Amino acid sequence: MPAMAAPNWKNRTMWTGDNLDIMRGMNGKSVDLIYLDPPFNSNEDYSAPVGSEAAGAAFKDTWTLSDVDEAWHGEIADKEPALYAIIDAAGLSHGKSMKSYLIMMAVRLLEMRRLLKPTGSLYLHCDPTAGHYLKMTLDCVFGRANFRNEIVWQRTTVHSDSKTWSRISDTILFYSKGKSMTWNAPYAPHADEYVDKKYRYADGDGRRYMLDNMTSPNPRPNMMYEWKGFPYPAKGWRYSQETMARLDADGRVWYPTLEDGTYDTNRRPRLKRYLDEMKGNVMGNIWNDLPPINSQAKERTGYPTQKPLVLLDRIIKASSNPGDIVLDPFAGCATACVAAERLKRHWVGIDLSPVAASLVVSRLREEGSLLFPTHKRIDIPRRTDLGKLPSYKTHKHQLFGKQEGICAGCRVVFPFRNMTIDHIVPQSKGGTDHIDNLQLLCGACNSLKGNRDQARFLADLKARGIVGAE
Ligand SMILES: C[S@@+](CC[C@H](N)C(=O)[O-])C[C@H]1O[C@@H](n2cnc3c(N)ncnc32)[C@H](O)[C@@H]1O
Repeated sequence: MPAMAAPNWKNRTMWTGDNLDIMRGMNGKSVDLIYLDPPFNSNEDYSAPVGSEAAGAAFKDTWTLSDVDEAWHGEIADKEPALYAIIDAAGLSHGKSMKSYLIMMAVRLLEMRRLLKPTGSLYLHCDPTAGHYLKMTLDCVFGRANFRNEIVWQRTTVHSDSKTWSRISDTILFYSKGKSMTWNAPYAPHADEYVDKKYRYADGDGRRYMLDNMTSPNPRPNMMYEWKGFPYPAKGWRYSQETMARLDADGRVWYPTLEDGTYDTNRRPRLKRYLDEMKGNVMGNIWNDLPPINSQAKERTGYPTQKPLVLLDRIIKASSNPGDIVLDPFAGCATACVAAERLKRHWVGIDLSPVAASLVVSRLREEGSLLFPTHKRIDIPRRTDLGKLPSYKTHKHQLFGKQEGICAGCRVVFPFRNMTIDHIVPQSKGGTDHIDNLQLLCGACNSLKGNRDQARFLADLKARGIVGAE
């Protein structure tokens, strides 16, 4: 398989559907940055107000353990035992709803890891309801060494009626796929008091600057030269004679003078550092400078849980470059997609609600950024990154050996001739002929499974009391 796969979708695609099915059909290692803002397990159901741009959008955030969840749990148990243990522990300590929620998230996070390029990153937006369990889940999926930050975003002001410390923040968990990642260090502007204290001088054109030391902190024998009548400092200058000449020619050296305007060679020349050339402070992980969307804001769509564009701008600028691909699998009103378009990134979004696909168009139009067509899709993509695969029929002997003649559904031993090859993810849902997506089922199990996915099939076997459904 190639190290990086070309995406099997077009830039500016918004899918309507379950992100698990859709992501399973997307090529691996094809995305640079994933931002996800899934339901938080808040035990609330959300809907947009009638009359707002987002009217009609609704999503549930209540989770109960269904047979389907349990079947996915079984799938995780087979492939990711540590993840399985964590989800089970969350079920014991927090309850079944958390277990169910984490199963839903874990199967999707495993797909997201597969979709990221080796230098890619993922930002998961959550709150304290499930944040700590999600951190453990992500540690298992991405490896704890790839945990980069827990970002605290102050999303609102304090509530005066709060009975505890007022809950005003969301958490954003930031992971990279591997050791090296795309990173453009973000800087915050200096505080006003700092600027007033430090940048006390100004050129004739009003350009503010501060004065910095030009003497070397360590002995530099080759920097010991007299400069314009100023003797060299004990350890030498910080700059070579050529650099000093260039700085001087650029007007960047400040010279102390006496009252008559001649140089005061008992003091030292200093370097002018201009405020407009300073990057600011390296940014920390507490973000309290990005206000929520107010009721009058132009960007407000009425979509429940809409996030501000400035928040997505910051994440996208730091962890991707122009031309990179951004995926939001829980796109909502498409904030991440709109931000990505404005920053000249490629984007792809997925949401259960069809409202997302219309909102991305109307928002980009309002922004004046709808310069290219967007693509609405509801089908499940077919992966094209697996190379040319031999016909699935060629794998029957190998599968029979691997399964030791046991049907992968009812767990009964059958002779070779009674076994049929089944696509675990059905072909109609993007499942491929790759051997990893194939299993042998007896005729009865194969017709029971039909065109459904594995989780539903296993749940159905269990409901019928057929042995081996876990
Ligand atoms: C918290 S909202 C996202 C808000 C978004 N960040 C924004 O700024 O508008 C979560 C979204 O996830 C969607 N969703 C929930 N489960 C999903 C699934 N399995 N597949 C795709 N979308 C899903 C919901 O429809 C909802 O729009």
